[in-house]
Amino acid sequence: MQINSFEEYQRNYQLSVDQPEEFWARIADNFLWKKKWDKVLSWNFSEPNIKWFEGAKLNITENCLDRHLAENGDKPAIIWEPNDPQKDSITLSYKILHEQVCRFANVLKKNGVKKGDRVCIYMPMVPELAVAVLACARIGAVHSVVFGGFSAKSIADRINDAQCRLVITADGAFRGNKQIQLKEVIDDALIGCPSVEKVIVLTHTRTPVSMLKGRDIWWEDEIKLVDTNCPAEEMDAEDLLFILYTSGSTGKPKGVVHTVGGYMVYAGYTFSNVFNYQPDEVFFCTADIGWITGHSYIVYGPLSQGATTVIFEGIPTYPDASRMWQVVEKHKVNILYTAPTAIRSLMSFGLQPIEGVDLTSLRVLGSVGEPINEEAWHWFDENIGKSKCPIVDTWWQTETGGIMISPIAFVTPTKPSFATLPLPGIQPVLVDEQGNVIEGNDVSGNLCIKFPWPGMLRTTYGDHERCKQTYFSTYDNMYFTGDGCLRDVDGYYRITGRVDDVINVSGHRIGTAEVENAINMHAGVVESAVVGFPHDVKGQGIYAFVIFPNAHGDEDLTRKDILQTVTRVIGAIAKPDKILFVSGLPKTRSGKIMRRILRKIAEGDTTNLGDITTLLDPAVVDEIIEKAKK
Ligand code: WTA
Repeated sequence: MQINSFEEYQRNYQLSVDQPEEFWARIADNFLWKKKWDKVLSWNFSEPNIKWFEGAKLNITENCLDRHLAENGDKPAIIWEPNDPQKDSITLSYKILHEQVCRFANVLKKNGVKKGDRVCIYMPMVPELAVAVLACARIGAVHSVVFGGFSAKSIADRINDAQCRLVITADGAFRGNKQIQLKEVIDDALIGCPSVEKVIVLTHTRTPVSMLKGRDIWWEDEIKLVDTNCPAEEMDAEDLLFILYTSGSTGKPKGVVHTVGGYMVYAGYTFSNVFNYQPDEVFFCTADIGWITGHSYIVYGPLSQGATTVIFEGIPTYPDASRMWQVVEKHKVNILYTAPTAIRSLMSFGLQPIEGVDLTSLRVLGSVGEPINEEAWHWFDENIGKSKCPIVDTWWQTETGGIMISPIAFVTPTKPSFATLPLPGIQPVLVDEQGNVIEGNDVSGNLCIKFPWPGMLRTTYGDHERCKQTYFSTYDNMYFTGDGCLRDVDGYYRITGRVDDVINVSGHRIGTAEVENAINMHAGVVESAVVGFPHDVKGQGIYAFVIFPNAHGDEDLTRKDILQTVTRVIGAIAKPDKILFVSGLPKTRSGKIMRRILRKIAEGDTTNLGDITTLLDPAVVDEIIEKAKK
């Protein structure tokens, strides 16, 4: 299933368009099925209703674990690098990982978890996180991993939306020189979550935690009570594998749903091809498993291909800015998949942190999460790849399940800051505001996909109508990505950023409406408007315009109060970088906030604000411009 030349890519691409079912059936043949499908694909984008490999039976963990045991049982599946470089790293072979997954799957069963039940996972980046994820998949429970940076309220909202029955967490997490009290956050969250019956707590930081009788149990105690024999539950290809919450234009995050068969095929296929993974290579994706990148390219993609995957608990700058490179040297990493924000942040430390670090093991570099600027691309290429490693700039989304538009390493000629060409099976189109498809090259528009692919979302949990409205209603018969995009003279794609009210802060998706809702919860705030602005390291920063009539005479303190509120409501990742107190917001006569104007002001470009005559009160714009200058 690996593509080895550009000519082969073109042939595969053509086949995937002309005969998609034949194409994907051939790819799916590389996986282990308990029973093959009756039909490869049935679909419509109007409801939407998408089914891949209907009638097929499988368990994804047999593909990620069992099938590697005979020949590769002793091969490292996971290499864990702790936050503290002085502590020992841990290697889990496929055999050991299989054992741990089966054992923990039995713990889940013993605690009442059944096929189809939802389980919330809120854990540090430790091997047990992967074990927990796979154990759910083993017994057919649906995991909902929540990133460790989210607040109690965010967790509670997600738990309630999915009606989770059980939570898996740890006492705490290490992140650089900080400790995060995960269990405490869960305790706060669970005050309002009646569906949760049990909480399994892993000991990690060894900080004191409260353990509620009848509800909270220790991971370490539970695994002693079960054995390691756990047959894999037989799943339908279209059974749910996981829910992952992500931000959109409205205030409420939505639970993107992925199903077992299609997701597995797509994650495995894209992993193997994009990175040109070779047996015995070490793959290091620096994302957190709490995001889709971690789901697909730390856990499911690599393990389905029998790869060795690195789980790194720490951050690139702890204890110093050479840490990420040290991890590459220590574990002889061959493929490094990271985010532009990490590259830009490490760039700012100069070349000294790289000096003397052996990076010769590297063969392929990857980037994900946001547009990579040319400067960062070249720095990565020259200083990390030593101009010898292809850079795969991979564009995709939580909703797409896996990489969509990207170079294939050693196959697709790259171009800085271009995601280049669609992978086989992916049919992108650019569409104008009226919904007309824009043909030809050297054009730009809104990026849509006009044909299904196996890894695509099937629904948004508990609210199918929302899925339809968000992705399939803007344009007829197309999946709308929310991204703007250009196609250059060579037919290469470059993603230019979101065209909706989503901002991308350090590669994290944040809805402006979500942040506004959080700010508005602060006593004294009358109204707020949030926009993104260009930020040197984060890509985009968060700029909040806030109407707060009585800022208690101390604006700085009030700003801090608001940050505290946002941290409480969403989490520290959503804290605005700038808060400007204003007396009014630019609104149209129908009451709509003109974000276009606020974006310009946030960018510091007020020379051409466009037409402001439709504003209810144009004077408010002058006031905001004046205040923003200070
Ligand atoms: C953005 C992350 C430019 C894009 C996998 C998308 C990118 C959003 C790239 C999805 C890239 C992701 N170049 N932009 N290579 N990769 N994006 O759901 O705006 O966290 O819509 O998935 O990130 O973010 P999400």
